[in-house]
Amino acid sequence: MMFHRAPDGIPTTVARRSLLPILLLACAAVPTAHAATRPAERARHAMVAGPEPLAVAEGLAVLREGGNAIDAAVTISFALAVTQPEAGNIGGGGYMLIRTADGAANVVDYREVAPAAATADMYLDERGVPRPGESLDTYKAVAVPGSVAGLAMALERYGTIPLPRALEPAIRLARGGFVVDRRLAEALESSSRRLARYPATRAVFFDGARPLREGARLVQPDLAATLETVARAGPDAFYREDLAATLENDMRNHHGLITRQDLAGYRPVIRPAIRGTYRAHTILSVPPSSSGGVALIQILNMLEPFDLASLGHNSSAYIHHVAEAMKRAFADRARWLGDPEFVDVPVDSMISPPYAGVLMRSFHPHRATSAAAAGPGNPLVQESDSTTHYSVIDSSGNVVSNTTTLNASFGCGAVATGLGYFLNNEMDDFSSKPDTPNLYGLVGGAANSIAPRKRMLSSMTPTIVLSRSGEGTGGNASSPYLVVGTPGGATIITSVLQTILNVLDFGMELQAAVNAPHFHHQWSPDRIVLERGGFARDVLDALSTRGHEIQEGGERGDLQAILVDAESGWIHGASDARGGGQSRGY
Ligand code: DON
Repeated sequence: MMFHRAPDGIPTTVARRSLLPILLLACAAVPTAHAATRPAERARHAMVAGPEPLAVAEGLAVLREGGNAIDAAVTISFALAVTQPEAGNIGGGGYMLIRTADGAANVVDYREVAPAAATADMYLDERGVPRPGESLDTYKAVAVPGSVAGLAMALERYGTIPLPRALEPAIRLARGGFVVDRRLAEALESSSRRLARYPATRAVFFDGARPLREGARLVQPDLAATLETVARAGPDAFYREDLAATLENDMRNHHGLITRQDLAGYRPVIRPAIRGTYRAHTILSVPPSSSGGVALIQILNMLEPFDLASLGHNSSAYIHHVAEAMKRAFADRARWLGDPEFVDVPVDSMISPPYAGVLMRSFHPHRATSAAAAGPGNPLVQESDSTTHYSVIDSSGNVVSNTTTLNASFGCGAVATGLGYFLNNEMDDFSSKPDTPNLYGLVGGAANSIAPRKRMLSSMTPTIVLSRSGEGTGGNASSPYLVVGTPGGATIITSVLQTILNVLDFGMELQAAVNAPHFHHQWSPDRIVLERGGFARDVLDALSTRGHEIQEGGERGDLQAILVDAESGWIHGASDARGGGQSRGY
């Protein structure tokens, strides 16, 4: 069970404040699958690890035809907009980390932006109190979508197939339909109240008063027509022409803010990947406007001096060390991170190893540091950062690690009238008011305040770990070793982190590394949340004795990971046992 399957009725102010435990408890009934019941899939040439089998099959078909990883990725993204409508999207945004075989590593940042009419206090009432649900469940929650522009840009810069080929499976699946599986049926059911409010949503996803059930056929004619228009006329159709006019109209009818000018002004940005090192491996990840790469590298820097393997996997000593590092990184996230085009984000300082040393000065090997003492606002060392993820590697060594989101499950719950795609509720990722938690309990301040055309801070962390220099398939040059990412709101960062530690520090087999139980600390609230059933009672007790507040919660994440074993020549693919994904290669 993932965060984008959150139950209804969450977004009241009170509920939002304590959303994290509610989400986790809501998931607690689902049986856990921590043990690796089977090893990862393996193949010789290429691999796709994705959250939904129909889309994975389409990506694999592109690879088999000779398309590269970017061709497959863009095809998968569009297919997921049809087959995983709660998170896959053309009405949202995301980040595509691409490492091409020549060693270049860049991120296509297609994160949504605030509309021009957005203001810093747009969700506050006259007393300055956030209006419940407005940044989540209304058309005012919708930010300017980036997916179509970003995917088209990725394909044009790095791909080899034409856009209509990448859209073909999505159009076929939308027009011809497919059978609703258990996961989609459950997602629809758990969001049914939010979805039922919008006629355009009911028209497609409901049968009478109830959402479609498992086994029903889901046909999406408006979405098919939208995708056909993009295939015929390119992304401009979405941002400048008829499709933009239709969206503007829908916005006007529902008190939304997005105009044709907002759509015409949307630009994806290509940014160099953020880089760190950990145990002689290069870490490539996403720079701001996501917090993911900065936080991940900060945490790895803080942990590097410790022999984690000797502490024992998921022992209380291990969890203490890692949670203390998480706490410090999330404190910095709240203080420093926001859209780099609007605020100066001191990325280089934040991810420098000496700064990690500064952050860990207050670390005590046996006692929890209070959140207040852990930050935020440590002086920086000036020297010398509902969702779905897939990972792809092709036979030439091009790699894609892509995370994309509508934010909550099915975004704001509305399908755009006449257009067939779900509208995001990404505006909630801004800090509506300093220190007021968002859907994921994350707090922020000025760096992540709302402003026109600004990108809201994300936690998405698509990541690629390279082999140690000289150990890769490329002789002396490093080559892709581990590709990983996941949904899960704030827990994205910590789930990606733990998968990396499971592989690099504990030498776990990939499927076991992906399935292993997670824990999470995000500075505020000042507690460790541990997956229910995944940790022994005496570990929990020992953490309490060290001074940690602890809480058990449900499963989190849907990791999709690939590992290249240069020695054996096998490429391994592992889809999280928590989700319904699949890894397939050839
Ligand atoms: O960008 C972000 O950080 C959030 N909008 C991600 C939301 C998410 O992961 C929900 N999925 N499970």
